[in-house]
Amino acid sequence: MARILRIDHIGLAVQDAEAARFWEALGLPRSGSETVPAEGVTVDFFPVGPSRIELLEPLGGEGPVQKFLTNRGEGIHHICFEVDDIRGLLAQLGAAGVELTSPEPRAGAEGSLVAFIHPRAAHGVLIELRQGGPSPAEGPRHDAG
Ligand code: CO
Repeated sequence: MARILRIDHIGLAVQDAEAARFWEALGLPRSGSETVPAEGVTVDFFPVGPSRIELLEPLGGEGPVQKFLTNRGEGIHHICFEVDDIRGLLAQLGAAGVELTSPEPRAGAEGSLVAFIHPRAAHGVLIELRQGGPSPAEGPRHDAG
């Protein structure tokens, strides 16, 4: 049985990079920033112990994050779990009738695999699943969503 290992990050939709000031005022150092044109966002990371806050800033135009901001405003966009066997977990969820955005994981950054569970299946919460990539002990990381 596949296992959830930890919360890798919590993704927050924000209007612009100014939002980083709040997290820096809290004393969280920014560990990385990356533009992901395919998703229409720039992401900034703020490590918190073994987890991270991920700020998602729209690049302009119509991406999923811009759509989220238009419909719901700033706030929590998704929760990302690190899992030990993403294909196994997707199969397990599929067998349980859980709605996925796609049945196969796609390549994420840092050699990771990622997949999403539709918010309709998770009581309004978009859930990202991630397997692989460097562990938190290896320092700052950058991912693509
Ligand atoms: Co994410």
